[in-house]
Amino acid sequence: MHIILDKKELAPNVKMLKVSAPLVARKSKPGQFIVIRISEKGERIPLTIVEKDDKIGSLAIIFQEVGRTTKELGELRKGDHILDLVGPLGKPSEFRKVGTAVIIGGGIGIGEAYPEAKAHKAIGNRVISIIGARSREFLILENEMASISDEIYITTDDGTKGHHGFVTDILEELINKKIKIDLVFAVGPPIMMKAVSEITEPHRIKTLVSLNPIMVDATGMCGGCRVNIGGENKFACVDGPTFDGHKVDFELLIKRLNTYIAEEKISCKMH
Ligand code: FAD
Ligand code: FES
Ligand code: MG
Repeated sequence: MHIILDKKELAPNVKMLKVSAPLVARKSKPGQFIVIRISEKGERIPLTIVEKDDKIGSLAIIFQEVGRTTKELGELRKGDHILDLVGPLGKPSEFRKVGTAVIIGGGIGIGEAYPEAKAHKAIGNRVISIIGARSREFLILENEMASISDEIYITTDDGTKGHHGFVTDILEELINKKIKIDLVFAVGPPIMMKAVSEITEPHRIKTLVSLNPIMVDATGMCGGCRVNIGGENKFACVDGPTFDGHKVDFELLIKRLNTYIAEEKISCKMH
């Protein structure tokens, strides 16, 4: 049992929970995730470790209420418990001093971009962050991202804050301005990560993306999270979740993410 130590609403239907998990906190590294099960009858869902606090022994997770389980999670309050929490899972991200790293987060993906940006800054890379959302009210961690970025760009689809358009517009602008970019890390909707990878490929800019396929056991046994990387089958839960964006078969990822939409709708309605 893991007690919820704190809860915050960051945006409409986007919540942050601080959960007690001292052993997982001690071991976790940026890029890793946990799998939680709220109650006996609940399903298991993966969520990124956004931040950890070794002293308190806690983890911060940020999630968007998109279906039954995330809605149930959002209903929990400070002092409530989560039944199971497994982690840290997935390969930790690798951080090297490369020069300039452009970190791109779209929507809820900003929560996953934050630990990456922070780690790049900590080892001395120049961090240019590009964060985007549908509308200004859905922009999360703006101050946190700004505090660890050398430059930060904001985009909204509806133009209510920052550049009116997409994160990829800013990336293209930086490339056109001949800013030297040594690495791009992108996390967000698959269509966004695909667009980022297509922009950087002709310029041979190393591009990493954090994939979010459906995960069940998250130990490499069930095959649920199968992704195709450069023609090879990989399991995102143990081989990822971060992969070379230029090798990812995004069409397959998008198709597989939609496999259970009918069942998910029914489950959400029942809730
Ligand atoms: P449902 O109605 O069941 O599903 C809605 C959509 O979510 C589905 O169409 C599918 O695309 C996806 N989904 C459903 N079940 C799963 C599953 N078991 N595993 C993965 N995706 C699923 N979301 C966040 O909001 N914050 C995060 O930090 C975060 N980190 C993630 C890290 C990893 C490594 C992965 C793989 C996914 C992450 N997700 C994150 C996505 C999150 O797991 C799903 O939004 C969640 O499982 C949806 O569950 P649901 O029952 O509320 O919605
Ligand atoms: Fe089962 Fe990855 S979630 S193999
Ligand atoms: Mg579900």
